[in-house]
Amino acid sequence: MILIIDFGSQYNQLIARRVRECRVYCRIEPPGIDFDYIKELHPEGIILSGGPSSIYDQGSPVIDHRVFEMNIPVLGICYGMQYMVDSLGGSVRQAEKREYGFAELNIKKDLGIFKGIEKKTDCWMSHGDSMEKAPAGFAIAASTENTKAAAIVNSSKKFYGFQFHPEVQHTSKGKLMLKNFLFDACGCQRTWTMKKFAGDSIEEIRKRVKKKKVILGLSGGVDSSVTAMLIHKAIGKQLTCIFVDNGLLRKNEAEKLKITLEQHLDLNIHFVNAEKKFLDALDKVTDPEQKRKIIGKIFIGIFESEAKKIKGAEFLAQGTLYPDIIESQSAFGGPTAVIKSHHNVGGLPEKMKLKLIEPLKHLFKDEVRLLGGEIGLPDELIWRQPFPGPGLGVRIIGYITKKRLDILRNVDEIIMEEIKKSGYYKKLWQSFAVLLPIKSVGVMGDKRTYENITAIRAVTSDDAMTADWAKLPHKLLGTISNRIINEVSGVNRVVYDISSKPPSTIEWE
Ligand code: XMP
Repeated sequence: MILIIDFGSQYNQLIARRVRECRVYCRIEPPGIDFDYIKELHPEGIILSGGPSSIYDQGSPVIDHRVFEMNIPVLGICYGMQYMVDSLGGSVRQAEKREYGFAELNIKKDLGIFKGIEKKTDCWMSHGDSMEKAPAGFAIAASTENTKAAAIVNSSKKFYGFQFHPEVQHTSKGKLMLKNFLFDACGCQRTWTMKKFAGDSIEEIRKRVKKKKVILGLSGGVDSSVTAMLIHKAIGKQLTCIFVDNGLLRKNEAEKLKITLEQHLDLNIHFVNAEKKFLDALDKVTDPEQKRKIIGKIFIGIFESEAKKIKGAEFLAQGTLYPDIIESQSAFGGPTAVIKSHHNVGGLPEKMKLKLIEPLKHLFKDEVRLLGGEIGLPDELIWRQPFPGPGLGVRIIGYITKKRLDILRNVDEIIMEEIKKSGYYKKLWQSFAVLLPIKSVGVMGDKRTYENITAIRAVTSDDAMTADWAKLPHKLLGTISNRIINEVSGVNRVVYDISSKPPSTIEWE
């Protein structure tokens, strides 16, 4: 495994992604990590990440110096390189001006890390400080116009420093550089596969749970479905999934889930129809935050009371993913940094005194999808676009009624069908409809109409932190609009949302 020390760079997750794409397991840990714990992990190499600090800042992050004495390769990126230079006796110059953007990297010495890369290649810079004097044993391996020490190498110790960022796509040969580090310098093997992970994880769950019972809040999304299936493989009917139909789901969602997970895959699912409870509580509520609070509170209440009916349950399973964990642990905190709970069942474990099972907590979303395929979930579930916990409740602007929900469900179904037919479904992060609280005048046949307006929202994104509105073909948008206006009574106008995040958000509420 490769240990990545998190000095606070915005690109940390990308470093981990690149390493995992090479089928090498890695973990991101904060700099305060205990040295004994590092030894227990048995890393084959360490990557010191970039970060916003200057090594001269008070309180800038540091790690146990003994990592440089473990006889394993170390790659320092940006701040990580400067930290290594300073720690090993070199010096770093504080810059007056930041260098940001593309630069041409002139490779002077290949020294292994640049194997297979042409002498001139592009790289992505984002730094203030630079190396002034190299520590003993290091040579400059590459330069750019502005940065003499763009890459340094100590071949005998296998220590490497990059002032640029190999993990971002703008450094076009960055992945090859990382591969050279992993396979040539560290001698890693390509052993990280979802097949192995599934086997190990099923075994681990079996050992931990023994004959006890586990409960899980099933939403029908990828994460909770994969978690459920994995645990089901380990302990079968000792797992009970609770699915709460809040009346804010897409068309036939609960029925579809029943067929796939309950009938075909034999999962033990307890369905609760709570539509009335949710809709009564949401009656005349228009404020988005209030809607979210009401939906969350009722969900927790129902989940708790249903869970209590399962006598002897000792564990609560959640589909927490690795980005949730990384984002919640501070770059400057210790290994005991607080880990946030999953937003859809937040607060449940503490209140219910259940022990947590989070089998996906070291996986990225793409790995969860691969795992889902490995353990036999159908493609339709694995490739489902994300759907928010409060469901259509935050896609109806203004107040929510059963009638308005049905209009939105019908519109949403058309969008889904057409997007799937066009081959865009997997390319989009999300595509859905929003029902607006205003009406507009139209003409149908010879008659004047005064009906609802719906908006189509379709975005591309890697992680939902940022998103771009999708440049869908006009023909496809036209087909969707025609079908909606012709087939859904109560709608006479369709608009397309062309805002990106930021400054807009993906959902409208
Ligand atoms: P925004 O609207 O903040 O959404 O750009 C980012 C992503 O999060 C999803 N989302 C939620 N998911 N519970 C969830 O499980 C929620 O309360 C929730 N709110 C937003 C949203 O669909 C998008 O993918």
